[in-house]
Amino acid sequence: VGRNILHFKKIESTNKYAKTIANESVDGTVVIAEEQTAGRGRLGRQWVSPQGKGIWMSILLKPDILPTDAHKLTLLTASSVFNALKEYKLDIKIKWPNDILINNKKVCGILTEMSAELNKINFLVIGIGINVNIEKSEFGDDLKDKATSLKIEIGNDINRKKLTAEILNNFESLYLQFLKNNDISKALEIARNNSALINNYVEITTPQTNYVAKVIGIADDCTLIIENNGKIERLISGEVSLHTN
Ligand code: BTN
Repeated sequence: VGRNILHFKKIESTNKYAKTIANESVDGTVVIAEEQTAGRGRLGRQWVSPQGKGIWMSILLKPDILPTDAHKLTLLTASSVFNALKEYKLDIKIKWPNDILINNKKVCGILTEMSAELNKINFLVIGIGINVNIEKSEFGDDLKDKATSLKIEIGNDINRKKLTAEILNNFESLYLQFLKNNDISKALEIARNNSALINNYVEITTPQTNYVAKVIGIADDCTLIIENNGKIERLISGEVSLHTN
């Protein structure tokens, strides 16, 4: 991972670019940009990506795993980012399946995109966006209460290069372990021990309905275990937000 790194000053979106070069690029290719002009989040949302203020990168993977196991790599990525950030001794949590929160505000989002056919993955692009040195005033009114940055929480600028390297190192060791032995236990342990959701009530939004459920845990297959009206159910992905009343 990261033996082939493509670095851009300005690009529309590292995920979008990684997808266009996927077929002719090697497994573990990393695309990094200083600025994204059309950074994208989940559900078609926009991702604010100002010049030099964050880590905006995508990892291109060609793992020999089933498409139905791809979501595990999202959790593995979240755990890799978490481990790189934990040295800052902040109140940092993983919000299954793809966000990292500090003091309950989002500091990192992960967007996994897949190209697959039947039982074979052609490629995966895992996009990681981390608000590193963004100032509070740079978040629009809609984001001010929901988003944060390392600089806002710590009070000083953070070295993006060092943090990027640490994330890629963590990712590589968890990824190789996963490919070799299908072993996701280390990433799971990190996600379980530092979960923003476990034991809390959450609001779950699906295309069909909205409901409140209690989060019981994260299963060995990385799905979220919830209790919904006395019934135990599992979510493979989804829009989950903490329920406050
Ligand atoms: C989310 O929380 O909605 C996911 C955000 C993912 C943002 C990253 S930044 C690098 C990569 N390129 C993109 O356009 N998006 C991802």
